[in-house]
Amino acid sequence: MLTRPLLKQDYDHIVQVIDRWWGGPTSALAHPIFFYELGQLARVVEHENTLVGFLFGFVSHPTKVDPSSDEPRVGYVHLVGIHPDFRRRGVGKVLYHAFEEDCRTLGCASLKAITTPGNEASAAFHRAMGWNSTVIEDYAGPGRTRLVFERSLASR
Ligand SMILES: CC(C)(COP(=O)(O)OP(=O)(O)OC[C@H]1O[C@@H](n2cnc3c(N)ncnc32)[C@H](O)[C@@H]1OP(=O)(O)O)[C@@H](O)C(=O)NCCC(=O)NCCS
Repeated sequence: MLTRPLLKQDYDHIVQVIDRWWGGPTSALAHPIFFYELGQLARVVEHENTLVGFLFGFVSHPTKVDPSSDEPRVGYVHLVGIHPDFRRRGVGKVLYHAFEEDCRTLGCASLKAITTPGNEASAAFHRAMGWNSTVIEDYAGPGRTRLVFERSLASR
């Protein structure tokens, strides 16, 4: 499995397959901002010239509103998707390990991601990757509970 940075041609492909890969309307989550403005750490995995997985993620920088803030950087995974025929083959693991390494290099103190409470595959995957999860009510607005995943990068 080879992982490499996201190219425009990959992004174009992803927006066409994402609804099928996720089993429902999801393309709004693949907003072009995650390629053009926040795409530097975005990655894909290829297998025999087929794109089989992608990760859209970025580093959230400390707020500049308070110049004295020492809020640490966080590597945020916005969206990860694996081709349905290539799940449970370590594609997600390859993407997460590469993203984690990038985030360490950029001085992040932790990683973060969220999903909806019913996404059992995502919960199991993040657990297997060593992430903690917390259910937070109203996280995404009134009545919109989310499962919030975090992983500390300290002293590893
Ligand atoms: C969740 C998802 C990203 C996992 O990707 P993947 O490439 O299949 O995961 P991996 O093969 O790297 O799995 C690593 C480990 O995670 C765990 N895991 C992954 N998927 C799992 C599942 N469906 N059920 C239980 N455990 C799972 C396992 O422990 C697995 O190791 P194993 O296969 O040796 O037992 C993938 O299923 C997916 O794209 N789902 C649809 C989109 C989605 O839900 N994205 C996440 C939203 S935040």
